[in-house]
Amino acid sequence: MRPDSVTGSDVQARPPTVLRDLLVVAGSTLGAAAACITFDFGELAYQVTRGAERFQLDELPPTLCVLASGLAWFAWRRYRESQREVVRRRALEQQAERLLAENRRLATQLIDAQENERRHLARELHDELGQYLNAMSLDAARIRDLSASDAPEVHRLSLALMQCAQHVYRAIGGMIRRLRPSGLDEFGLPGALEHCVDGWRERLPHASFALNVDGDFSTLTDAQNITLYRLVQEGLTNISKFARQARVEIYLVRARDESGEPGEIVVTMTDDGPGVDLAQPREGLGLIGMRERVEALGGEFHIASEPGRGFLFCARVPTRRLGTAATPGFPSPASQTV
Ligand SMILES: Nc1ncnc2c1ncn2[C@@H]1O[C@H](COP(=O)(O)OP(=O)(O)O)[C@@H](O)[C@H]1O
Ligand SMILES: [Mg+2]
Repeated sequence: MRPDSVTGSDVQARPPTVLRDLLVVAGSTLGAAAACITFDFGELAYQVTRGAERFQLDELPPTLCVLASGLAWFAWRRYRESQREVVRRRALEQQAERLLAENRRLATQLIDAQENERRHLARELHDELGQYLNAMSLDAARIRDLSASDAPEVHRLSLALMQCAQHVYRAIGGMIRRLRPSGLDEFGLPGALEHCVDGWRERLPHASFALNVDGDFSTLTDAQNITLYRLVQEGLTNISKFARQARVEIYLVRARDESGEPGEIVVTMTDDGPGVDLAQPREGLGLIGMRERVEALGGEFHIASEPGRGFLFCARVPTRRLGTAATPGFPSPASQTV
């Protein structure tokens, strides 16, 4: 359909007031005609204007007729223009929707590619580097044993080498865990999150963490699993940056839909830390990345906060269709989509 053409569907889309307005016009015209006939308007006008013949006032009625027709034509032209504008806007809206859908598809692909790459890197780090580090550590231990009695300097160096290998091993372990959440494949989302939260309990002893899981999470796709995991991971990283002494509550809820099947998932994280003024511009990509991940799965992401009143984020991720489950309400502080 060409955006600048008026179609049959647009004619059908005319408001129902058109008929009523036409009836009003026809009624008032007939009413005016009846009044003119009753009161002999033409003769009356002639008598009144006769004295001012030099001003040609008696020529006024036909001129006014032409003016009325011109105005009707003018209104009709504007009406057609507005119809064309409506059609053009509809086409643009459809195009915007198509582009948005394409954008979401690309975002999902990007996240998938990123996760595949991370998984690949984690495996490489584990299999390649881990294996060689292990061999180095074993060799150093052998040198340590062989040099224990007669070569004290070699013995000392072998011990230092073992310590270095252990250090690198631990660092690589941390990298692997960040690249691919440990336990996600083996124990599923709740187990992996429990493990992740445990890590933060150790790292932030002044904060307290409560993880509440409710529902069946065994049937999630990899993309859903990793998205929900990364949300909580980024939320906890923000706690470590901005609310190190806060009480943190995490809810992972999957309610059942009307048919009794597991429905959409809602993840909510709240803390009672210092909060932030959401009206102020924020830097950082963490919250934006969270929103993009959730929207790539067709979900919604919201944050709420006020200075001194903590911070909250809530994400809904549909698993079958949107809007099937009840969700916890938002608190009163200013709430916005990132
Ligand atoms: N739990 C929180 N408590 C207080 N402020 C927060 C919290 N989480 C995020 N913020 C605010 O939102 C901003 C944006 O967060 P984010 O996008 O994760 O970026 P970054 O972590 O790189 O600063 C932060 O700079 C901070 O001001
Ligand atoms: Mg962050």
